[in-house]
Amino acid sequence: MADNQATLTVDGKDYQLPITEGTLGPSVIEVAAFQQAGYWTYDPGFMATAPVESKITFIDGGKGELLHRGYPIDQLANNAEYLEVAYALIHGDLPNAEQKADFFEKIRKHTGVHDQLRKFFEGFRRDAHPMAIMVGVVGALSAFYHEDLDISNEEHREITAIRLIAKMPTLAAMSYKYSQGEPFMYPRNDFNYAENFLYMMFATPADVDYKTNDVITRAMDKIFTLHADHEQNASTSTVRLAGSTGANPYACIAAGIAALWGPSHGGANEAVLEMLDEIGSVENVPEFMEKVKSREVKLMGFGHRVYKNFDPRAQVMKETCDEVLGALGINDPKLELAMALEKIALEDSFFVERNLYPNVDFYSGIILKAIGIPTSMFTVIFSLARTSGWISHWLEMHSAPFKIGRPRQLYTGETQRDFVKVEDRK
Ligand code: SDX
Repeated sequence: MADNQATLTVDGKDYQLPITEGTLGPSVIEVAAFQQAGYWTYDPGFMATAPVESKITFIDGGKGELLHRGYPIDQLANNAEYLEVAYALIHGDLPNAEQKADFFEKIRKHTGVHDQLRKFFEGFRRDAHPMAIMVGVVGALSAFYHEDLDISNEEHREITAIRLIAKMPTLAAMSYKYSQGEPFMYPRNDFNYAENFLYMMFATPADVDYKTNDVITRAMDKIFTLHADHEQNASTSTVRLAGSTGANPYACIAAGIAALWGPSHGGANEAVLEMLDEIGSVENVPEFMEKVKSREVKLMGFGHRVYKNFDPRAQVMKETCDEVLGALGINDPKLELAMALEKIALEDSFFVERNLYPNVDFYSGIILKAIGIPTSMFTVIFSLARTSGWISHWLEMHSAPFKIGRPRQLYTGETQRDFVKVEDRK
């Protein structure tokens, strides 16, 4: 229900545009009336456009605030397990003890994948980027679940969410094992979500008494939480747009994985490590910063479309970085280099004037590297964690009537042309 109105005057005529307030953040002006005036709104990159209403996540870019179902991200990351956060994203609040036990058990029961899916991996070269594999095998899941895929059926939608959250660690670990030429490890139901992922990544069939380091397991789980959801980012918007056609949810998540892969989005964590490798040492930072200012390169892991202050996830990530490196006794020169870069950037007018602060990707790569995860797997882990966010938005969209997403355009191409036969063309 509109709370207020804006008046648009165009071609000498007034149009009343309804204004609707949210519970937090800017109100929205409903622009459908622009059509009556014969205009489209124009907003490349959706800098000021809200295509949906949502209750899942709120970001205040100016304050550097991130809430999932109203809970601040640092409280969730430091106190809850990732699967509790996934439950909250899907169901609207954190689970009570009974709901937690039931949800965790459902996830445990669905961590396995159809044995024939293993054959999909054999179609890839061993050196295929694991994100290419993930786009393929997650999309392929849509070929395995026909009996539970009437998306108008709420139970079918719920089991699909469970299957995706449960299977992503298994598929992610399989994409790594395949690249290493090592045997796939079956999920173990006696391990928690993060332990199971680390087990499937690093154990071999000979490791009958495999144990993970509790600090690493907790850090892994926290990294999952820090990447779980982030409002209408590019990959989540991709999932919603694909979902708006009524497409198979596994295919929608595969589309989200593809969108996340880009270095401007989820691929940035991999790009940060490559950037630190390229810089090499603190002595080279001033020269690198000149390349950034001349726009030859971007400072990967810095800047954000929404945060014009610190990304709250980056702060938690930095604390976790210190914990993990301290617990493992690792003195990673890349961390020192990253901190030198951060210090210089935060004091340099080029970055200050553009509100460029470290984002979630700036420190995550250093922790993942310390845990022993190869750079090529960083965005795979981001996609694993973001699956709970993607599917919660898909479920939210399907919980109420929706229309297919079909943006319009500003056309500046050729006007009327008469056809000319090829022999008469110049
Ligand atoms: C994620 O949307 C989300 O919520 C994403 C995410 C999530 O959880 O889903 O938070 C995850 O994608 C984090 C962002 C990871 N990407 C990177 O770290 C890549 C480096 N960052 C940039 O590419 C950039 O900051 C973006 C893409 C993140 C944001 O770009 P915008 O909002 O379109 O801003 P812009 O490109 O218009 O930049 C504004 C100015 C420009 O300066 P001018 O040329 O106008 O003088 O800032 C400059 C840019 O050149 N700038 C940078 C910079 N980022 C922006 N300059 C140097 N280094 C950078 N990193």
